[in-house]
Amino acid sequence: RQHVALIPAAGVGARMAAGSPKQYLAIGAKPMLRHTVDAFLSSPLIAHTYVVVSADDPFIDGVLPDAKEQGSRVTVLRCGGATRMESIRNGLHALRDVIGAQDRVLVHDAARPGLNAALIERLIVETGDHAAGGLLALPVVDTVKRRDGDHVATVPRDGLWLAQTPQMFSYALLCRALDAATDPAAITDDASAIEALGLAPRLVEGHPRNLKVTLPSDIRIAEMYLALDST
Ligand code: CTP
Ligand code: MG
Repeated sequence: RQHVALIPAAGVGARMAAGSPKQYLAIGAKPMLRHTVDAFLSSPLIAHTYVVVSADDPFIDGVLPDAKEQGSRVTVLRCGGATRMESIRNGLHALRDVIGAQDRVLVHDAARPGLNAALIERLIVETGDHAAGGLLALPVVDTVKRRDGDHVATVPRDGLWLAQTPQMFSYALLCRALDAATDPAAITDDASAIEALGLAPRLVEGHPRNLKVTLPSDIRIAEMYLALDST
């Protein structure tokens, strides 16, 4: 049983509003997507990394030139869709003859460049053979409020976690869950599609460094975490 990474990188980065998709913005010395791919390449536990970009992506060849080399552990799939979920579905479909039903797929946002080999290993080791898979997540530390019109209430934070990626499932289960998802808008991460089948993915403690870069101010935070590694 092998572990492969599937990185959706076909978004436009509307909230970043940078002119080019955010996964190609520089974080320190490298484009964001290069950091993300390099995290998987640095892990001895990952057999191969697949990157889903849109069919007309003009930037990817400059960022992953090694993806064309024979023996490379990275493959670019030009099958991105209109939503994150569609991009992942298309990527999974493209792999149907390449990976086995019980191989494990680690789906990870291109927009989380702070991932590292230690976090990948923690997810794989702690999820183990758990049939419902698992994901990195962070326990909520702030007090949580819910506003409903004029009414405001405090939501007990016990048991609340913030989902990160990677999220790891068997190929067969992930395909089944995403195919069963009828409302793509309601599926904001892969684990929620698994939960909708009545299964409980394992929560594995992630790290703040694995933040999702969404807004311009997040770039500086990601740079800070990545600079910590190179000192
Ligand atoms: N993604 C994708 N295909 C899409 C939309 C998103 O592969 N049609 C990817 C993004 O490239 C990103 C990840 O899914 O790596 C998480 O999505 P998000 O952070 O929302 O990125 P964007 O959709 O690009 O940003 P925004 O929502 O601000 O437009
Ligand atoms: Mg988005």
